[in-house]
Amino acid sequence: MLRTHTCGELTIENKCTKVTLCGWIQRSRDLGGMTFIDLRDRYGITQLAFNMEVNAQLCEKARQLGREYVIKVTGSVIERSNKNLKMSTGEIEILVDEIEVLNESKTPPFTIEDNTDGGEELRMKYRYLDLRRNILKKNLELRHKMSIETRKYLNSLDFIDIETPVLIKSTPEGARDFVVPSRINAGEFYALPQSPQTFKQLLMIAGYDRYYQIVRCFRDEDLRADRQPEFTQIDCEMAFVTQEDILTTFEGLAKYLFKNVKGLEIHDFPRISYSDAMKYYGSDKPDIRFDMKFVELNNIVKGKNFKVFDDAELVVGICAKGCGEYSRKQLDELTEFVKRPQVGATGLVYLRYNNDGTLKSSVDKFYDEDLLKKWAEAFDAKPGDLILILAGAAEKTQIALSCLRLEMGNRLGLRSPNKYAPLWVVDFPLLEWDEETKRFYAKHHPFTSPKPEDIPLLDTNPSEVRANAYDMVINGVEIGGGSIRIHDKMLQKKMLNTLGFSDEEAQIQFGFLMNAFEYGAPPHGGVAFGFDRWCAVFGGSDSIRDYIAFPKNNAARDIMIDSPAKISSLQLDELNIIVKDIVNKK
Ligand code: AMO
Repeated sequence: MLRTHTCGELTIENKCTKVTLCGWIQRSRDLGGMTFIDLRDRYGITQLAFNMEVNAQLCEKARQLGREYVIKVTGSVIERSNKNLKMSTGEIEILVDEIEVLNESKTPPFTIEDNTDGGEELRMKYRYLDLRRNILKKNLELRHKMSIETRKYLNSLDFIDIETPVLIKSTPEGARDFVVPSRINAGEFYALPQSPQTFKQLLMIAGYDRYYQIVRCFRDEDLRADRQPEFTQIDCEMAFVTQEDILTTFEGLAKYLFKNVKGLEIHDFPRISYSDAMKYYGSDKPDIRFDMKFVELNNIVKGKNFKVFDDAELVVGICAKGCGEYSRKQLDELTEFVKRPQVGATGLVYLRYNNDGTLKSSVDKFYDEDLLKKWAEAFDAKPGDLILILAGAAEKTQIALSCLRLEMGNRLGLRSPNKYAPLWVVDFPLLEWDEETKRFYAKHHPFTSPKPEDIPLLDTNPSEVRANAYDMVINGVEIGGGSIRIHDKMLQKKMLNTLGFSDEEAQIQFGFLMNAFEYGAPPHGGVAFGFDRWCAVFGGSDSIRDYIAFPKNNAARDIMIDSPAKISSLQLDELNIIVKDIVNKK
C-alpha cells in the first residue's frame, strides 16, 4: 500500500505516530507562518500542517498545490491547538515532513463540497468528480449496505442467486423494449429484459424453488425522478407458496432492512385493497404517513342546483386540519395547483370551519349553513379546519385529489422523510381497459393469476376480475410489486386471448413458457423490488439518480460518455441496418 492509514481514521490515540496518507486536496489555507491542507479520501478528511519555521521549502511546495491534486504525505500525528470536534479526525493534524505529488488536477468545474456550486447537467458531465462529494458517497455506501443485507436475508432463507440472460426476445406487452441488433442473424433483434419475469418462472419449473437476483432491467419509457431507463430490481420467486407466504417472507425482508440498515423496528404492515386505496387516497400507492382520507359527498351535495356538483360522477374532498385560517391568496394558490395540467381538476370548492364555529364556503349561494354543517360532519371537521372538494369524472377526480392531498401533506409538514409508513396494496384488478386501443391490458403482467373465484368473470366481465397481485408501498412510493402466477397452460392461453392474442400469436410470443407449463410447473409466485427506489426512500430522497453511480439524464442520455451515439456506417452495414436519413442528418 502507498499509505499506512486512511484520511478518516487517525485520532488523538495515534498521537506521535509516523504516518503516510494519500488523498485529494480539498482546500488549503495559507496563514503566513503556517499552511494547512485538508486532505480527503473516501474515508474522511485529515488536516495537514506545514510550518514555515520548521521547513520553509516544504511549506512553499505545499502552497503551490491546487485543489484536487492527488498527493502522498508522510509526517507525524500531532494534537491540534484549534480542535474541530465535529470531525472524527478533528483533534489531530499531520505535521508533514515529506510530500509527493502523485498527480496534478485541473481546477474542477464546480466545488467538490456538500453545498456545491455546480448545476445538475455540469455535475452529470463530470460525474466522477460529483461522486467525490460526501453526499453521493454516502448514498452509494447505503446502496452497498442494502445489497449486502438483502443478500444476507435471502441467503438465510435458502434463496439461490441465479443469473438470467440479458439478450432476450422482444415481447409486445409491458413498456417498450430496448433492442439490440444481431450481426449473425441479419435483420433480427434481441431485446434487453424489462425484468427476468419469464426466466424466473422457468427456474421454478426447473425446481429451484427459491430464487433471487439483484439484476439490471431496461425499459424504454418516459423518465421521471423515480424512473431510469436502466434500473435494478431485487427480483424474487418462490414455488409451493400462497400469496400469504410471499407477503410474509418479503415483509420479513423489509423489516430486516429497516432494522439492519436504518436501525428501526417496524410494526406489521397494514394491508389495503386496491379499491380502498383508490377510494380513500385516490392512489394505488398511498402515502399513509398522514391520514387526510377522502370523503365522498355525492349523497350530501347533489340536487341543490350547483351544476358542477350535480353533473359530477364523483364529489369528493379532504379535510386539512388547522387550515381554516388560510388566506384568500393561499386558497387561490391551491386552486391554481389543482388546475395545473399534471393535476387536471377544473376548479376547487372550499369550506372553512371558522374558529368561532361559523362556516364559510366558496359555494354559499347554493348551500346554506345547515347544509354546510352536514358537510363538516361528514369529514368530522372541527373549528379551524379547511375542507377542500373536487368534482368530476370519478377516476380523474380521485387522481387530482390525491395530488392535492400530497400537496397539503407537504404544506403541513406531514411527509417527513425520516418517518416511514410501509403497507401492502392487495387485490389489484387483473386487467385494465384502454379506451384508445379499445383493448384490455394486464394491470401487472400477463402471467399474473386471477383470483380463482374470479376466473368465471373472465368470460362475462373481465374488468371485474381481481388478481392475486400486490404492491409494497413505502411513503407513497411503489417499492415493489408481484403476484401469484398462472402455472396452467390453458389458463395462460385464456389470459392471452383476453389480452387480444390469437392462439397462434400466443404460441409464437409465449409458447416457450406455455409449453414449459406442460412439464410439471409447480404453483409459484414472486415479487420484484425497485432497488434504486428503495435506496432513495431509505436515503430520504425523491430522486433515484442520486443512488445510481452513473445515471442517465431526463432525456435518457449519459452526458458524461455522450450516449446514445451514432455508430459507423461499417457497423451499420455489418448489422444490416439502414438508418433513415432524418437520423443521419442530425
Ligand atoms: P414491476 O414492473 O412492478 O414488476 O417492477 C418492479 C419494481 O421495479 C421498480 N421499477 C423501476 N425503478 C426504476 N426505474 C424504472 N423505470 C422502474 N420500473 C419499475 C418499481 C417496481 O415496483 N416482473 C415484475 C415483478 C414480479 O411480478 O415479480 C415486475 O417487473 O419499484
